[in-house]
Amino acid sequence: MHELIQNGTPWILRETGNDPAVIRQNETLFALSNGHFGTRGSLEEVHRTPEYSYSRSTLINGYYDTDPISYGEWAYGYATHHQTTIPVPDGKWMELRTADEVFDLKSANVSDHERVLDLKEGILTRSFQWETREGVKLDITIERFVSYDYPEILAQRMTLVPDTSGHEVRVTFELDDLEAMGKAAGEEQAEDLDPRKKEQTRRRFTSQRLSRSPILLLHIKTQESDLHALVGSVIQTDKSKAALSSYGNQTALSFWTKAGEPVRIDRFTAYSSFFTNDQAVINQSRQLEETLERVDSEGYDKLKSAHIYRMQSFWETSDIQIEGDPALQLGIRFNLFHLNQAAGRDGKRNMSAKGLTGEGYEGHYFWDTELYMLPFFLYTQPEIARALLSYRHSILPQARERARIMGIDKGALFAWRTINGEEASPYYPAGTAQIHINADIAHAVYSYGQITGDERFMVKEGLEILVETARFWVRWGHFDDQQKGAFVLNDVTGPDEYTAIVNNNFYTNYMAKKNLLYALELIKRAENRTDSSLKQLDVSEEEQRLWERAAELMCLPYDEKHRLTMQDDSFFHKAVWDFEGTPEDKYPLLLHYHPLTIYRHQVCKQADTVLAQFLFLDDFSEEQKARDFDYYEQVTTHDSSLSRSVFGMMASRIGKDEKAYEYFMDTALMDITDLQANTKDGVHAANMGGTWLSLVQGFAGMRLHDGKLTFSPRCPKAWSSLSFSLKFRGRLIRVKLTPDTAHYERLEGEPIAIQTDDEQIVV
Ligand code: BGC
Repeated sequence: MHELIQNGTPWILRETGNDPAVIRQNETLFALSNGHFGTRGSLEEVHRTPEYSYSRSTLINGYYDTDPISYGEWAYGYATHHQTTIPVPDGKWMELRTADEVFDLKSANVSDHERVLDLKEGILTRSFQWETREGVKLDITIERFVSYDYPEILAQRMTLVPDTSGHEVRVTFELDDLEAMGKAAGEEQAEDLDPRKKEQTRRRFTSQRLSRSPILLLHIKTQESDLHALVGSVIQTDKSKAALSSYGNQTALSFWTKAGEPVRIDRFTAYSSFFTNDQAVINQSRQLEETLERVDSEGYDKLKSAHIYRMQSFWETSDIQIEGDPALQLGIRFNLFHLNQAAGRDGKRNMSAKGLTGEGYEGHYFWDTELYMLPFFLYTQPEIARALLSYRHSILPQARERARIMGIDKGALFAWRTINGEEASPYYPAGTAQIHINADIAHAVYSYGQITGDERFMVKEGLEILVETARFWVRWGHFDDQQKGAFVLNDVTGPDEYTAIVNNNFYTNYMAKKNLLYALELIKRAENRTDSSLKQLDVSEEEQRLWERAAELMCLPYDEKHRLTMQDDSFFHKAVWDFEGTPEDKYPLLLHYHPLTIYRHQVCKQADTVLAQFLFLDDFSEEQKARDFDYYEQVTTHDSSLSRSVFGMMASRIGKDEKAYEYFMDTALMDITDLQANTKDGVHAANMGGTWLSLVQGFAGMRLHDGKLTFSPRCPKAWSSLSFSLKFRGRLIRVKLTPDTAHYERLEGEPIAIQTDDEQIVV
């Protein structure tokens, strides 16, 4: 078990010592964010010691720049522009000095260096003792948190306690506009070709200091996307003890030590971003200053208590408790903590594959949100789920445009990866061709309606998404005479990115079928409502009949001889990958083999057919699921972090308990143990969602069946109990399972019937 979580307290991640490799690695794990912006867990003075950092970035969700994608060989309809999240000025920057020494972790005489991430309170605390060259011992503590009450605010408090009087100490604060970092990271990038990383990190904004003493205020503007951001920072301290002065990008504070007397310095940094004209800059900077003035007058302690209160209410409904394994308990909370931190909450931004913890995948939003992360929010904070789906609704115009580019005259195709709604995937075989994203979003929308009963959202935004995606499917596919009139979807890529451009990917076709049925069902429900969008959508009877027919005749490839579901029409015609002859260091395959070497073999990067079956467990017989699981498990590398959780959940459902447990442990501890060897680029947010899914839908066997909550628990023997809460149609339900018992309790709302393995009960 990893040393970070081996401390016996199921809420605390503790790092001790000052090994640069450890500190660098934990930069991702110790990142703090609130869905609006996030900042990595880098040291305050790390600009002096780059070897302690991988990237000290602060990211605003949805703040990106674009530049043209240059193709060696262009073809019509290729994505035209990169969208790359770019780090904004870093408000954590601090520098500590005495008369003849500037502090940094590498050269200073430091003892007891420790960093603690308290998941319960959402606070990162660093503490150490510094013995200066003059022989003064300073006990230093630096706390930081990213506020949930004031989404723009990063709050920091530094406390210094000297043991000797009469020495001058100076602390400088800056808004670090990252010129140096951009270069360093850019140089490294040239040698690193891993496509899962950031595209590039050169500094891509112009910055301008707005002089507003005592507030440090920077206005930045991206070079191409014309996105503006403001970063402001203010310092607060006991003025009778310390003198404050500001110049340029910096505020400095100096004081004379008094033995045993603490000096406390609070810093608030605010981040906002917007599209704009000049007047908006003025208005926005006024607003930002007002926010800073407000938090400054409320003070650090009040802000901190409010933040802790918000964290508590989060944990009240979202915590999952496991008795019998404290280290795993901590690992699970770590995942839930990061999931909560990652989600955009304003309906304009989504959740990137790395949350706001790193620049991997350029800050893009993928299907990861709807299939892996959203379920956690659907059942614990449905208002956040709604905001995430509202974002998808807001990018429907771009999705319609994308469908036109793809030659589809009606309906919408969501971008495979995006921030602003436009397609940003420069590689179509394992990117743009994953049109299953349409059905993934439709599935999430439909589930939202089922779980919350929010009919108003469903008959407006929801309906529009379902209808536009359904329209797309019947135009992409056709009824194929060669296959007895089956409705086929050709030349697509399913979730498994090691098999590209195939006909009738089972997952895609199954999801598309559901998408068509969802749209038909919702139209029926919307017909009687005056507040629905149905009229505007102008869906004809004929169109509906076509959807019905396509759903009914959807081609679902099946190998009768081996009684196996076929991942696609051609999967079983390919040679099986030489797994025995592939050394460990050749994984992930994508970094060592040409795509065509991979595509022409039976080898999967991740769950595909098994995922479809897991999503609709009741549609497939036990034997079928077990046979398909056994087959696909042998040919799956899990090179994608989205894979293990699905195999684990299915293993639990088909009674392979040991396997389920093994997969689950890998899932739950993936980032803490750096299982995929790339946590430095950011956490694997989808896998974190997979952790929640594994516990609730895997081990507890919770699913929705005909609109009713159903449970089929298989609590691992290794735990004495597993408990969690769920929000469902206005109820709050508490579930507690042991390996032999199950207990369901209603904490809020009206009584409700649920189905368990052997009976229907009213909770
Ligand atoms: C996976 C995709 C996923 C993406 C972002 C890729 O490695 O194959 O399914 O959407 O990562 O997490």
